Amino acid sequence: MASELIRLQDLVMEFGKDRVLNSINLSIEDKKFLTLLGPSGCGKTTTLRIIAGFQKPTSGEVYFDGQPITNLPPYKRQINTVFQNYALFPHLDVYDNIAFGLRISKLPEKEIDRRVGEMLSSVSLRGFENRKVSSLSGGQQQRVAIARALINRPKVLLLDEPLGALDLRLRKDMQNELKQIQQEVGITFVYVTHDQEEALSMSDTVVVMDSGKILQIGTPEDIYNEPANAFVADFIGESNILDGIMLEDYKVRFFDRDFECVDTGFEPNEPVDVVIRPEDIDIVPADPSKLCGTVTNVTFKGVHYDTIVDFKGFKWLIQTTEFHPEGSYIGIEIDPNEIHVMKRSEYSGMFGDYSSYSEEYYDITNMEEEAEEGAAE
Ligand SMILES: Nc1ncnc2c1ncn2[C@@H]1O[C@H](COP(=O)(O)OP(=O)(O)OP(=O)(O)O)[C@@H](O)[C@H]1O
Ligand SMILES: [Mg+2]
Repeated sequence: MASELIRLQDLVMEFGKDRVLNSINLSIEDKKFLTLLGPSGCGKTTTLRIIAGFQKPTSGEVYFDGQPITNLPPYKRQINTVFQNYALFPHLDVYDNIAFGLRISKLPEKEIDRRVGEMLSSVSLRGFENRKVSSLSGGQQQRVAIARALINRPKVLLLDEPLGALDLRLRKDMQNELKQIQQEVGITFVYVTHDQEEALSMSDTVVVMDSGKILQIGTPEDIYNEPANAFVADFIGESNILDGIMLEDYKVRFFDRDFECVDTGFEPNEPVDVVIRPEDIDIVPADPSKLCGTVTNVTFKGVHYDTIVDFKGFKWLIQTTEFHPEGSYIGIEIDPNEIHVMKRSEYSGMFGDYSSYSEEYYDITNMEEEAEEGAAE
């Protein structure tokens, strides 16, 4: 059974008149990997700084193992932080960087040697003991930073976008390694990122934030399959989001057609948001009994084609391994399980249309290519 290690209760953070955290309530389980995910400025770092003790909340309480620690200074908490810029000591070698915290605690050299050895294995840096940290790659420096933060055996490691400075490929490798390190040392990780794929692939629990609020807490599967509202659906993966009417249990209407679904518990004829993931739509021959539309754009993505289809002026993204050229008139089928009905929210109508998809896609691809070229130079 998992047990609660940290609890954030009604946290509010104000800077002058700006309220940047608005009643944050969160339970963090012992020995789990929890990720705060949200767009820039939503309050992730502020939340982390309050857990670490670098920032005192305007109101609210932080509990550790059931005890309030809101007023405890950082060095008295069993919590360490890994920062994005690593903050390593450039004049020390790998061994001395990792041993630093134990030397401060005045441990015997023999004990230090044993524990640094263990840490070097955990982060796969055996043999690098005597290297200057300035001679290491970004990924190796990151591992030294993690080893240095773990050597004091904290109960919790806080990581604020620790892979942000690495190029795409190395970031992916480090994601796997971080997850392995967390499982091996068996302590709680609280991780901050604005990268949804990173959050989904590493975490036991994902916390989606926007504008100083928590919108959803769940496993990666929950968050992806049952997004709480249009913001979460749009932020996590690609989504077609459209206006619907929940006619009755198991029956939703959109595009003037009735669809069978698996959702219940709405008012009769309640207006709702409907989410359909691009990979969950089957393309079938056009037929008056089906919802039909015209392909307006096709992009080959390796495993599948991103196919944009215009239904009465509303553009959907469909991901399919079959090629349907621009201009084809096609029908679609959606399994009732793949239709996700959500309550209307302040985010309704803001997301989920792919009308501007081709320009957006072009911009993103160019940006990524430029970033990778930059990193390679
Ligand atoms: N010391 C401060 N004084 C005034 N405003 C602050 C201070 N620290 C943070 N803020 C504001 O609080 C909001 C949340 O900031 P925070 O750093 O927590 O965001 P974030 O989610 O970590 O964003 P990013 O992904 O860009 O790092 C922002 O609007 C920021 O400008
Ligand atoms: Mg931040």
